Amino acid sequence: MQTHEKPSTSPADAKVVVESLLEQMTLAEKIGQMIQPDSTQIEPEDVATYAVGSVLSGGNSAPAANDVQGWANRVREYMQASLQTRLKIPLIYAADCVHGHNNCHGAVVFPHNIGLGATRDALLVERIGAITAREMLACNLHWNFAPCLSVPQDLRWGRIYEGFGSDPALAGQLGAAYTRGLQAEGVAACAKHFVGDGGAEWGTRRRLSWVDFWEQGGGSWMIDQGDVNVDEATFRAVHLAPYYPSIDAGALTVMASFNSWRGLKVHASRYLLTDVLKGEMGFQGFIVSDWMAIHQLSPDMYTCVIQSVNAGLDMMMYPLDIPGFIAALTTAVENGDVPLARVDDAVRRILTVKQRLGLFEQPLTDDSRMSEVGSAAHRAVAREAVRKSLVLLKNENAALPLGHDSGRIGVAGQAADDIGLQCGGWTITWQGSSGDIVPGETLLDALRQTLPDADIDYAADGQLAGGHADVGVVVIAEAPYAEGVGDCESLALDPADIALIERVRAQVDRLVLVIYSGRPLLLEPVEPLCDAIVAAWLPGSEGLGMTDVLCGDYPFTGRLPHAWIASMDQLPVTALSRNGAVPSYPYGFGLT
Ligand code: BGC
Ligand code: BGC
Repeated sequence: MQTHEKPSTSPADAKVVVESLLEQMTLAEKIGQMIQPDSTQIEPEDVATYAVGSVLSGGNSAPAANDVQGWANRVREYMQASLQTRLKIPLIYAADCVHGHNNCHGAVVFPHNIGLGATRDALLVERIGAITAREMLACNLHWNFAPCLSVPQDLRWGRIYEGFGSDPALAGQLGAAYTRGLQAEGVAACAKHFVGDGGAEWGTRRRLSWVDFWEQGGGSWMIDQGDVNVDEATFRAVHLAPYYPSIDAGALTVMASFNSWRGLKVHASRYLLTDVLKGEMGFQGFIVSDWMAIHQLSPDMYTCVIQSVNAGLDMMMYPLDIPGFIAALTTAVENGDVPLARVDDAVRRILTVKQRLGLFEQPLTDDSRMSEVGSAAHRAVAREAVRKSLVLLKNENAALPLGHDSGRIGVAGQAADDIGLQCGGWTITWQGSSGDIVPGETLLDALRQTLPDADIDYAADGQLAGGHADVGVVVIAEAPYAEGVGDCESLALDPADIALIERVRAQVDRLVLVIYSGRPLLLEPVEPLCDAIVAAWLPGSEGLGMTDVLCGDYPFTGRLPHAWIASMDQLPVTALSRNGAVPSYPYGFGLT
């Protein structure tokens, strides 16, 4: 990897730069720093109008020219606009690069965090953080809305795969490793979603008549953004614990969570945001709201603004209407409903992060970085992550490994040759999609490359040529989803997938099942039909990482980051320990 000179970012320098700016800023300029619109909501020419401190590209907001050059150009326009404002304060541009720079066509797509959890490999996760940072910096992005430190409790949640696993210590360790990797390269981490996102209960999401943005993606939204109803000791042990290692590692930002704790939305909780996070835990960076989340506090904008700013939020992601937010916060300061000192504290925190990242000296990166995006070196690390993330749940009758001596290999299932399904949500678009959406190798491509002389037959519908193969490899996948769109009442396999498995079973001597999913699915009806079962999670663009282990060049080492439940009544997993139910495969399971 090339090294690039880094600007000086010492705490002492920060204080001088930041305090002198604060003295010169008008209230409007201070409030501007506290706003983060989405790129679809603001054009570069309006950056100066509001003196905005940040812009994000949300999950559906990739630039029209979606490649490295297109991203770099588009972000540069916003950055340059900020450098033309009165005080020339650079904005900080953010995106959800939650498994690589995943919305940028051509970037390497890593496994989602659930797969990284299965690797148990903190050094690997740190390298992934560093590579993600380098691919972002090539596009002038300095802020990643990652890592996600949630500790998911209910596998029906649509965000299970964004967390590393159900053990708070694992989430804490891997989250801190990722934070170190990102920030060592000069990209700010954002530990999210603070706090309790993984603990919301089915059916507790409040439907608010004045908030309807989330219904756009469809889905059930039954858990996501809901309520966590546990006592404080449990809340701290399960959901707060993973934040300590990332904050110790110097995480520069934290995102507040949509969920509530015992009925109070985190965005309005001064106790959690100010007393606990900034006070007790000593967090020095700034807290950003989640997407329009403050609008869930009240139908009245003024109330939303004073509650959230006074609770300790420093920056607002995409307020419904920018002029309205500015007017409300200005009035609140004038009325004394929000102390000016609170605004100053928020702005001081935001400017300090910008200074620590070197943005004042070097707001734009140089074009030489662009060639690194999606490079062979980066793909090799993703491939390593894939092979370490696969969990072997079952292997009988020597079904695996596959080799040139396996005889005829019959591959079945659309997912075997669909890179979109292999990547899952948060890939190119918010929800992700099936199809040829990013460069890389599908499992079928990878098998053909790894076993060039093997007799491989592919039939998406499972109707194998000649009606027979020695080994069948069936690949099934959950349709991609993100957030509450993926909240799902039942984790039963799709009946079409069960039929596919049965069809192939009837034509082969040995059957290998590979599953792409963001969470454990109920295997009970098909388990007896399979000789081998591999949980591949959402592995991303590097299919060769799968064949590395499926074909025996490397051993399986992945271990389950969640208990693999046997039936729906074993949920939430906390009930598992209470009722003594036995999952299909316990937490930590994985054949080698
Ligand atoms: C999600 C966050 C994400 C943000 C920006 C929200 O809906 O909850 O995880 O960072 O959108 O895309
Ligand atoms: C955006 C996402 C965001 C979501 C929130 C989508 O339109 O692209 O980034 O997380 O809305 O509802």
